[in-house]
Amino acid sequence: MEVESVLVTGANRGIGLEFVRQLIRLATPPKFVFATYRNESSIKDLESIRDGAKDSVVILIKMDVTSCGYKKALQSLDKVGKNPNFPTTMLVRQTGGIWAEETFTHFHTNTVGPFMVLEEFLPLLKKAADRSEGTKMSVSRSAVVNISAGNGSITTATFDFPVIHAAVGYRVSKAASNMAMRMIAPALTKSGILDIQMCPGWVKTDMGSPAAELECSDSIAAMLKTMEGLNESHQGAFIDRNGEPIPF
Ligand SMILES: NC(=O)c1ccc[n+]([C@@H]2O[C@H](COP(=O)([O-])OP(=O)(O)OC[C@H]3O[C@@H](n4cnc5c(N)ncnc54)[C@H](OP(=O)(O)O)[C@@H]3O)[C@@H](O)[C@H]2O)c1
Repeated sequence: MEVESVLVTGANRGIGLEFVRQLIRLATPPKFVFATYRNESSIKDLESIRDGAKDSVVILIKMDVTSCGYKKALQSLDKVGKNPNFPTTMLVRQTGGIWAEETFTHFHTNTVGPFMVLEEFLPLLKKAADRSEGTKMSVSRSAVVNISAGNGSITTATFDFPVIHAAVGYRVSKAASNMAMRMIAPALTKSGILDIQMCPGWVKTDMGSPAAELECSDSIAAMLKTMEGLNESHQGAFIDRNGEPIPF
């Protein structure tokens, strides 16, 4: 996998932070990793990854997916986009907040926010795809990887799950996000942009809790390996970290 530029949202902790850590260690790391955060007080780990990066430039950008204030973030990326060494953009979206009390908050953060981010950054994804026109769709060319969740699957929703208001809201927001991304897949195909919903598994993060099954490093390593093999046959798919399909 050779990705020139990557945008990782929610990169200051958990899955997003580990993505940044592993992306810059790839055999062919991205030239630029744009890593977003919300609060300066939470970026110590991110800053230390940035400062230790050897072959990638890690650029920290303050951005909340629920606000429309992406202009600054967009400007940062576009500035780099004017550099001739900018043929590719991959967008890894991941945000969350399972403990948020209101369904509306989940919906805003997990469904509407990421969709708005995608709309806003679409011109850069198109630009990346155009630079390799004629090649097949891939993460290396141009892609949006939406970090979804298996428990957003309506098909596999069981009846023994405790009805916790927050969990209901979270699952509804993930199911809706899957639908939104699925609906936009045909349009993205026309632009040569791969569109994937990927579940990381149950991961030890603030959200996943220490009881989770997977170390963050193992989940992200599996997802990056899977991303390498993604192509047009996966367009609009909902898959797990190993590339196995998850029913919507
Ligand atoms: N962990 C799991 O077991 C698991 C399982 C399935 C799916 N997922 C998905 O994986 C993604 C990441 O989860 P995680 O476990 O890494 O969670 P986490 O440790 O709680 O981290 C969540 C990240 O999202 C950021 N974020 C929250 N709201 C945001 C907003 N409005 N705008 C921008 N960034 C925002 C947080 O920033 P702050 O630090 O500023 O709050 C933080 O960086 C989520 O989409 C989650 O649904 C996780």
